[in-house]
Amino acid sequence: MPAIEAVDLFCGVGGLTCGLRSAGVQVRAGYDIDPACKYPYESNNGATFVTQSVSELSGADLASWYSPGAICLLAGCAPCQPFSTLANVCEKKDETKWGLLEEFARLVRELKPELVTMENVPRVTNHAPYRSFVETLETLGYHVSSRRARCADYGIPQERRRFVLVASRLGPVRIPPPSGPVRTVREAIGHLPKLAAGQADATDPLHKARNLNLVNLRRIRASRPGGTWEDWPEELRAPCHLASTGASFKSVYARMSWDQPAPTMTTQCYNFGTGRFGHPEQDRGITLREAAIIQSFPDDYRFVPPGEIAHFASVGRMIGNAVPPRLGELVGKIFMDHVNVSIG
Ligand SMILES: C[S@@+](CC[C@H](N)C(=O)[O-])C[C@H]1O[C@@H](n2cnc3c(N)ncnc32)[C@H](O)[C@@H]1O
Repeated sequence: MPAIEAVDLFCGVGGLTCGLRSAGVQVRAGYDIDPACKYPYESNNGATFVTQSVSELSGADLASWYSPGAICLLAGCAPCQPFSTLANVCEKKDETKWGLLEEFARLVRELKPELVTMENVPRVTNHAPYRSFVETLETLGYHVSSRRARCADYGIPQERRRFVLVASRLGPVRIPPPSGPVRTVREAIGHLPKLAAGQADATDPLHKARNLNLVNLRRIRASRPGGTWEDWPEELRAPCHLASTGASFKSVYARMSWDQPAPTMTTQCYNFGTGRFGHPEQDRGITLREAAIIQSFPDDYRFVPPGEIAHFASVGRMIGNAVPPRLGELVGKIFMDHVNVSIG
């Protein structure tokens, strides 16, 4: 069977690349404008990181990465900010980001790879750039299949919902329905060393918990796994908890449950106050390592060079923005099987 070789657009720290590789896809390079992603991308994946905007690339630039005779895969997860719920108000202002999906479509037209995959937030399908992306693929003769995926249904211990599209010029390709058991928080992070708030593990610079002030320490002690701030005594409640109907505030300052998948890891997932990011039993928010493992990164994935400090804000952003590697692995396996059946 010929090898599948890939280039990853908007590659970030390499969640998608990492997953594709573990399915057997040979990822040659990733493109991203954030230079902080170069170290994690290259040191974990052995592929080249190019700090360049996707809008400056041509099909010929991309073609130079693939070996003669290889099956070419172009993969990409354009930044999802313009499509996410919170960004609704900014959508009209941020036209340049809307355009990045169009740049992806342009590169598909110029390169005409055998295989394409695109990953994004589920709401992407409501928007014109997505419809024109699919139209481009269909006009070029691709078979297209897509699915709104609940990550927890695909072995990722997290309630994240993503949209996944796969396309092939070799024949019909299909994303299978979910199968297999749901992974829980306990299965994912139950084995990690215990820590207190503000403490760091001596051997893993990412396994460190943010400090909590006295009132937040009292709040987490009063929180039960899977509960809400309604479990707290009145004096610990903040004005924002009482301000609205309460519905949208229930899952801030909350502990996750051991025996459920975790909530979606956001860019602030290390912060007890911004979501259900409290550890199920230790009195602290989850660590950066725990967040990365919940995203399905390997336990030893490196995010900062040896000797450098893993800052909560920058590493949290890397983790929260990543595609769960296991979702990438699912896509990689779909393509490996597909090529096997179509050519092998
Ligand atoms: C959702 S994240 C991608 C996650 C990544 N694919 C993964 O698997 O972990 C989107 C990425 O797009 C990058 N980005 C934004 N504008 C870009 C551009 N014009 N060209 C290349 N990358 C860009 C951001 O720096 C960010 O890393």
